[in-house]
Amino acid sequence: MRAFITAIFTVFCVVLSANAHSPGVDESTIPTLAHRTQETCGDNADLVPLFEIDSPSLTSHIYTTSNVNVSKYIIGDTASFLGVAALIFPFSEPSTVPLFALRGTGTPSAYFYTTNATERDEVLAQGWQNWTTAGYIYPSQICGSVPLYRLHYIAANTNYIYTTSTTTRDDAILNQGFTYEGIAGYVMQLSSFLTGAVCS
Ligand SMILES: *[C@@H]1O[C@H](CO)[C@@H](O)[C@H](O)[C@H]1NC(C)=O
Ligand SMILES: *[C@@H]1O[C@H](CO)[C@@H](O)[C@H](O)[C@H]1NC(C)=O
Ligand SMILES: *[C@@H]1O[C@H](CO)[C@@H](O)[C@H](O)[C@H]1NC(C)=O
Repeated sequence: MRAFITAIFTVFCVVLSANAHSPGVDESTIPTLAHRTQETCGDNADLVPLFEIDSPSLTSHIYTTSNVNVSKYIIGDTASFLGVAALIFPFSEPSTVPLFALRGTGTPSAYFYTTNATERDEVLAQGWQNWTTAGYIYPSQICGSVPLYRLHYIAANTNYIYTTSTTTRDDAILNQGFTYEGIAGYVMQLSSFLTGAVCS
């Protein structure tokens, strides 16, 4: 996967630098990479996809960088594969914090993600379990990152959605009964690399 991501960066960044002012690229929509330094940003070549799956039996969205875990839920639990929610770091990098993943013990179960250790501990005290560290993300909007919005379906079958899409966020609020709970952190987006907004 690392080779795949690196290849994407290389191809698109080379292509875009050769066509820096090509017509059709709306440069006003491209986020700028102000103040990027080796010291403050993670190495984009280390990014991996954070996959999103939707388990109907758990009525829960699950986010994982592990293709083994994706396969497990799709094959074992007939979950739907929804795609790549974001690009995140699989290990700690400069300026990043862990994104803790917790699993509810209720029936149906659910998955919850937070960078906030105090909030994690509160949820653990309510009976949730540590599942894993999903990966590492930025706590503020630096290095070309974008907000990862958190939405919560507050009910017995609790469900969390994490998305960088304002369309998905607004649809969850307006049409699916989710409550907006703020920005979970800041992540990189595959589309930023495809448009050349960010190069590795
Ligand atoms: C995959 O799932 C296993 C078992 O639930 C867990 O221990 C592991 O940390 C998960 N891996 C990732 C990368 O989420
Ligand atoms: C972390 O979570 C605690 C408990 O929910 C909350 O009081 C605090 O404001 C949160 N911190 C941040 C930086 O969001
Ligand atoms: C959950 O993980 C945190 C961080 O590693 C650890 O401090 C805590 O003791 C764990 N809690 C449980 C109930 O496993």
